[in-house]
Amino acid sequence: MCGIVAGVGIENLESVLLDGLSRLEYRGYDSAGIALNSMEAESVLLVKTPGKVKKLRKKLNSMSTEERGLQFSAGVAHTRWATHGAPTEVNAHPHSDTAGTFFIVHNGIIENYVELKKRLIDEGQKFSSETDSEVLAHLVAECYDGDFLKAVAAALKQVKGTYGVAVLSTKHPDALVVARKGSPIVIGLTANGVLAASDTAALVAHTSEVIYLDDGDIALLSPGNADIRNLDDLPVSREKMKIDWDLSVVEKSGFEHFMLKEIFEQPKALRDTIRGRLDHEQGAAVLSGLNLSPKEMLDANRIIIAACGTSMHAGMVGEYFFEDLADIPTEIEQAAEFRYRNPIISPNTLVIATSQSGETADTLAAVREAARKGASTIGICNVVGSTIAREVDRGIYLHAGPEIGVASTKAFTCQVVALLMTALKLARSRRLTREAGISLVSEIERIPELAAAVLEKNDLIKEVAEKYSEAENFFFIGRGNLYPVALEGALKLKEISYVHAEGYHAAELKHGPIALLEENVPVVALANDVPGKEKILGNIQECAARKSPVVAITTEGDDSVAESADVTIPVPRSSVFTTPVSTAIALQLFAYHFANKRGCEIDQPRNLAKSVTVE
Ligand code: M6R
Repeated sequence: MCGIVAGVGIENLESVLLDGLSRLEYRGYDSAGIALNSMEAESVLLVKTPGKVKKLRKKLNSMSTEERGLQFSAGVAHTRWATHGAPTEVNAHPHSDTAGTFFIVHNGIIENYVELKKRLIDEGQKFSSETDSEVLAHLVAECYDGDFLKAVAAALKQVKGTYGVAVLSTKHPDALVVARKGSPIVIGLTANGVLAASDTAALVAHTSEVIYLDDGDIALLSPGNADIRNLDDLPVSREKMKIDWDLSVVEKSGFEHFMLKEIFEQPKALRDTIRGRLDHEQGAAVLSGLNLSPKEMLDANRIIIAACGTSMHAGMVGEYFFEDLADIPTEIEQAAEFRYRNPIISPNTLVIATSQSGETADTLAAVREAARKGASTIGICNVVGSTIAREVDRGIYLHAGPEIGVASTKAFTCQVVALLMTALKLARSRRLTREAGISLVSEIERIPELAAAVLEKNDLIKEVAEKYSEAENFFFIGRGNLYPVALEGALKLKEISYVHAEGYHAAELKHGPIALLEENVPVVALANDVPGKEKILGNIQECAARKSPVVAITTEGDDSVAESADVTIPVPRSSVFTTPVSTAIALQLFAYHFANKRGCEIDQPRNLAKSVTVE
């Protein structure tokens, strides 16, 4: 959840690290800090602050040259999402050992830090923070006998938990050590120096040549070199990869917020998810990463989709696809629950993990539990090289491009489409006819156009969202595969506007929540012209009778909802399988404009982080 950037032998190191941190701020933004090995003063400049990277930058800028030095050989920087200890200056990273020789930045959780801390204190070490991470600095100091890499490896061998870590030492001004277990570290090679980060977004301005560390890897970085080993000091070889996107994808490019940019990127993102993956002739999906044999597809008798948050809502939409199209009983599991409730898994069970980041701790744990029990695991991830993507047996990348806004938007619609194509692939190897397949392929091909048409309604949606911008409570209701879209609409609204919003199955409303309806509680009803619409019309009337204003998402050309709803937002007519995409985009815009009107901090909502790497 935290962001790490580190560098050695890099020109303008301070600004490179600060710019990198700003690009990682979406991962966590409670506090920030930097430690730089000064070339002139032979000491470390350590600056930390609660709050965002801009505050850290200001603090650095306010220091005199004498106080801070100008030239730095190596540095580590961090933006934090607090787990152990409040977001204060002392709890901000980097943390150092008692003598101030080693400075560490850490992403992850040290589960046995209490016992380690107690032992280290008994041995005379002085702790300054309440964090679990600080033990690492003291452990490295304890293990140090002149070999930097070996000291960090020996320290890491003593910890239980997860880490992406970068360590700086006053004894080795031209080197850094980085390591990973459970939290990503990617190394970026530049002409002279070496950078490392928790995310390629921090590196893309400086290099397109990267190396992803695997769990258990540790690397000594020095100008022009990355020596990668395992914790037993044996060299390991990791492939150099090219990042295939440029700086523009991690910049706002004229949009007020990343969230709005990413909403508007959906036609392209969806096209990229679909590209080359449909066979018109056979009415089938060609998903090379999903290399199940025809027999495995035929034998599949159960699908479990494990995911969290928005990705779970996409999975809930997928549940309808697998049952309707492929005839395979499907369940959606909250990933956090999966491994603790002893799930029943047979050899023909397919477990699908959907995750934008590919790093969500609970989803990863579900994948590992499923694999342990012999299931075939499939990953649907956006981030290339992410942990889930690497651990599953097979998978599909979304190719949606980096998603920076904490509120997930384009990843959701691309996940829905990836799940639809997966269902089509399975369906065609089972009972779906070629004709039905061809018709679905045409519908899927239309999705980018549909998305673009919804975006044309931006002004209308803005007007509607602003009309209700004073409401403090909302309900979102839907049926069929639009029920999970209603859940997603409510999640989007609450996470960026802090307004209470609940998603409900339209029929469930009258089993309790209807008690809350009154004139200042708007209901957003997903009343598209797909099977179930007549029923939702009845539900809309039930809401209107309680004086709740109803905002209905409808289908263009279908006027049947207009007289019961206060406002309608028509989206283009589409098949029952693709309507969740267009409807979700309308709700994303609604949430965005609602929150923007209320002056909320949209890209970095309070208490949240983009990638939830703790349980
Ligand atoms: O990276 P993942 O898709 O696994 O993340 C899962 C959730 O943490 C994520 O979808 C979260 O709910 C978003 N903030 C929703 O906008």
